[in-house]
Amino acid sequence: MTPPDEKVSGQQLDLRALSTRPQHFKGRVIRFSILLTIAAFAILQVHMGFYRSKSLGQQLSGPSLSDAPFKWADITPTEQLIYHPCFESYECARLELPMDWNRTDGKGSKIALAVIKLPAKVPVTDVRYGGAILLNPGGPGGSGASFVFRYGKAIQTIVDSAEPPSVDSATGKYFDIVSFDPRGVNNTTPSFSCFPDPMTRKAWSLQSEAEGTLGSSETAFDTRWARFEAYGMSCSQPSAESSEDDGWIGPFMNTAPVVADMVELVERHGEWRERETERLLSIAIDDSPHDPNLDIATIRLQNRWNKGQEKLLYWGFSYGTVLGATFAAMQPHRIGRAVIDGVCNANDYYAGMWLANLQDADAALDSFFEYCHTAGPTYCPFAHGHSGPEDLMFRYEQLLTNLTYSPIAVAASESRGPEIITYSDVTLLVKDSLYTPLKSFEFVAQVLADLEHGNGSSFADSKNKAKKWNGPPSCDPSSKHCKVPGESDFEAAMNIVCTDGPGIDGIPKEVFRNYWHTLRGQSKAIGDFWAEIRMSCIRLQTRPVWRYDGPFTGNTSHPLLFIGNTYDPVTPLQNAYAMARGFPDSVVLKQNSVGHCSLSGPSLCTAKAVRQYFHSGELPDPELICEVEELPFHIPGYEKQQALSPDDKALMHALHSLGETSNLLGA
Ligand SMILES: *[C@@H]1O[C@H](CO)[C@@H](O)[C@H](O)[C@H]1NC(C)=O
Ligand SMILES: *[C@@H]1O[C@H](CO)[C@@H](O)[C@H](O)[C@H]1NC(C)=O
Ligand SMILES: *[C@@H]1O[C@H](CO)[C@@H](O)[C@H](O)[C@H]1NC(C)=O
Ligand SMILES: *[C@@H]1O[C@H](CO)[C@@H](O)[C@H](O)[C@H]1NC(C)=O
Ligand SMILES: *[C@@H]1O[C@H](CO)[C@@H](O)[C@H](O)[C@H]1NC(C)=O
Repeated sequence: MTPPDEKVSGQQLDLRALSTRPQHFKGRVIRFSILLTIAAFAILQVHMGFYRSKSLGQQLSGPSLSDAPFKWADITPTEQLIYHPCFESYECARLELPMDWNRTDGKGSKIALAVIKLPAKVPVTDVRYGGAILLNPGGPGGSGASFVFRYGKAIQTIVDSAEPPSVDSATGKYFDIVSFDPRGVNNTTPSFSCFPDPMTRKAWSLQSEAEGTLGSSETAFDTRWARFEAYGMSCSQPSAESSEDDGWIGPFMNTAPVVADMVELVERHGEWRERETERLLSIAIDDSPHDPNLDIATIRLQNRWNKGQEKLLYWGFSYGTVLGATFAAMQPHRIGRAVIDGVCNANDYYAGMWLANLQDADAALDSFFEYCHTAGPTYCPFAHGHSGPEDLMFRYEQLLTNLTYSPIAVAASESRGPEIITYSDVTLLVKDSLYTPLKSFEFVAQVLADLEHGNGSSFADSKNKAKKWNGPPSCDPSSKHCKVPGESDFEAAMNIVCTDGPGIDGIPKEVFRNYWHTLRGQSKAIGDFWAEIRMSCIRLQTRPVWRYDGPFTGNTSHPLLFIGNTYDPVTPLQNAYAMARGFPDSVVLKQNSVGHCSLSGPSLCTAKAVRQYFHSGELPDPELICEVEELPFHIPGYEKQQALSPDDKALMHALHSLGETSNLLGA
């Protein structure tokens, strides 16, 4: 990564004075900690496997990039937040930050944080401009750039005022939607990788998938153990190449430095807002120098960069709740708003145990059979000829038992090779579906019904999709120069998880076997998979230079809004109550649904509570329970679609697209 070759003159001292520099973290605000969220993402992956801105003026008036496809690499990283047009209606920036926040000499390696923004529907000079809401999609290791690119507009529909800005209301609010790729992840550089090239990574994941998950055979535990030993040893060493160029990111990817990155991002947003305000005001003054409606002094004051005091507006999902709670504990005075949605127990996460996730997982699985039974065979093909949910469950378990000894053979088709469907395939599919029941239960029901008849063709087709090479055709996957952003996000995720935890290099195999049995005891649906999260750390030697592991408490400058679902398979509701106790005046909103995080079920009630919170700061009544408008298998939910107002329809449309976020929370 090259340092910016030119800086904006006269800014050096101001930049240095930013409160987000390392010394800032030395005061009482240093308390930060990190929670761990949901690493299903990682597990899933195991199984599937010039715009040079020389000055501000040039950035603002320069040529558009729209004729060439956007490439992050064309942006020169800068210390200021300088946005460039990208992906049509978005803006992207690469923020240069220290790799090691503990270095106080301003030298050392840098990272370039990939930042994406869906701009607010009003300019910053409009009184209805609400600021930038920062999102984290979970993981850890989830790409914020990808999340905002795919779902930013739907999120904006939820948080923005219902009426369009053209309606002249002084009370509306419109927000920028912003996120970033965390350290080591996707478009943020340098990246983190444990494989020399994409081909070796693919070969590893295909073998890993084929040998089967924990619990799938007598030998699976021993094979997995050796596999994760090899993995940990490989991820502990920087490749010779990366250590030469950029410095190795391995010890600097855990959550504490990410909180420092967020503080800097929030400060730089304040700086950007002030700059953008001056730019727009100068245009306005040029256009109509005597406009009596132009209250320049007020606008300036309102949009001034409050150096060192800028506050965070945040909505974090799954692991994003660890990040949010850590931020709130380390920087309580910087909370403007924070929605903590799909809550991890931060203490458990930082202890590296993953023992506070699966408390409701089997209840979520039970709901599959209950909803299937209620819907009947028209919508749930697995429901044919049954007598009740228990019977469906029995048939499912019998199918699994059969698959253990007799995987289903599937002949090749025109587009796919021969395939087999195994116990691991089915349990993984069912586990994933518990994150997004509304989106996934019907497909699972179809697959189960087919498999009972020995027909694995549709499942084989879907397995095949995940195996395809998805890099550019010009990139030879066996070349170490073939770098596909995002390919190594699983490795990044595991490195974050392991360096957030206390480190278990050298843990005895038998101790780990007992741990695995504990998780199996917690959930038959997910326990086996869950044990693999911690197993990825068994030989990882890397330790972070800066780690925060509690306490997760704080008198935040605004109360936090926690959200939990009745039956969330990996972030049980009880975590929301436990975490809320550390943050006075925070409120837990309960959404009555099955699935991971609130977006897995469309709830107008939840959406409006979140909108209200961002607009006025008002928290919902602690007794409020939000229903969802739709249940899996087309079972009607709370509201009837036809009774909806135009705003509710727009909200439902947004919620539907969000319910399809299969990668949300790293699931
Ligand atoms: C890094 O900085 C943090 C916060 O200032 C401090 O708590 C920690 O001890 C530092 N670590 C090292 C290795 O200097
Ligand atoms: C499981 O195998 C038994 C014996 O082969 C068979 O009778 C039964 O139908 C199978 N059940 C399922 C669900 O595939
Ligand atoms: C297998 O199931 C698929 C749909 O799930 C169906 O289209 C196909 O005809 C079935 N194959 C056989 C041999 O029944
Ligand atoms: C990485 O970010 C790009 C946007 O630049 C997105 O299209 C892609 O899906 C992301 N990859 C992953 C693995 O998230
Ligand atoms: C929050 O404020 C209360 C009352 O001033 C105090 O007792 C408590 O220790 C504070 N908690 C934290 C985490 O600072």
